[in-house]
Amino acid sequence: MKEKKKIILTGDRPTGNLHVGHYAGSLKRRVELQNSGEFDQIYIMIADAQALTDNADNPSKIRDYIMEVTLDYLSVGIDPEKSIIFVQSHVAELTELSFYYMNLVTVSRLQRNPTVKSEIQMRNFETSIPVGFFTYPISQAADITAFHATTVPVGEDQAPMIEQTREIVHKFNSVYGPVLTEPQILLPDNAACLRLPGTDGKAKMSKSLGNCIYLAEPEEEVRKKVMSMFTDPGHIRVQDPGKLEGNTVFTYLDAFCNQGHFAEYLPEYANLDELKAHYQRGGLGDVKVKKFLNCVMQEELAPIRRRRAEYEKDMDHVYEILRRGSQTAKETAAATLGEVKHAMKIDYFQDASFLEEQKGKYAQQS
Ligand code: TRP
Repeated sequence: MKEKKKIILTGDRPTGNLHVGHYAGSLKRRVELQNSGEFDQIYIMIADAQALTDNADNPSKIRDYIMEVTLDYLSVGIDPEKSIIFVQSHVAELTELSFYYMNLVTVSRLQRNPTVKSEIQMRNFETSIPVGFFTYPISQAADITAFHATTVPVGEDQAPMIEQTREIVHKFNSVYGPVLTEPQILLPDNAACLRLPGTDGKAKMSKSLGNCIYLAEPEEEVRKKVMSMFTDPGHIRVQDPGKLEGNTVFTYLDAFCNQGHFAEYLPEYANLDELKAHYQRGGLGDVKVKKFLNCVMQEELAPIRRRRAEYEKDMDHVYEILRRGSQTAKETAAATLGEVKHAMKIDYFQDASFLEEQKGKYAQQS
């Protein structure tokens, strides 16, 4: 039997620059997976068509972030020689796949999707949900299956989408034959990375709340945001015992710091456990912890900023990466659509036996 290929597909909506939440939750992992050499193909999609499902009246916002997100990808180390970066709307085959998958999903199943449910509330869509938005989990199943993806590295909020995709795959394969590949979700293994809070301690990082640290942000801006991060409001004087639960600075340290950072910037502590113990005991001030976190973040972000600056100098090249990637992605998706239409018996003009069958019906009559 043919060895099954290992294929990654994942992506982001281009509604803003990517921030450290995206980085901890998914981007860093993607780069590690890319460089592991374990995958046969890697597709990274800029989900502009999905972004339009709740931004229909604001296409110029989406347009503005196509190249921005591409730069963010390249800056974290997505290597266009190893990964295919592409634009969703360029791959029209995805829409056609979605249309056929729609027959395999019920309205009530979509209504039960917890991510869609909470997004409907967040956007005050309760009384007037755009149909395109409501059905985006189906289009996401098309994104994933068009590339026969086996692995989808995403944040926790995307789990219901992958679950729904797997259901569509089962349904399709049982009705039409074994064509589609069942994907697995790959979540961050570090709990702090699963759901990095905003700098204000709020669970959700969002542009409108102004609580994100962006990957493209200058050093001084990052420092300011770190130094004004939410900590333990009860930790007033240095000697007071401090709490770790809900303490954003420590959550970020959980997500980003390693042993090496202590040796370099805070050698009086062996590791994060010692630092935490001192904080809880009392006698360790927020400023000292924040300064340490700033060093950690700057070390993580410096190479990203440097790479971005290089790519920004050659936007023609960035554009070409995106254009070529989109073309390659389109070819792959077209091949899958061909298999799907064949399995569904609607490939009339690709299938020579179609006309023969039809002729056969009449040959007997004469
Ligand atoms: N829904 C994802 C997000 O909001 C973006 C996305 C679209 C995606 N299609 C995908 C992610 C397919 C993984 C696989 O971030």
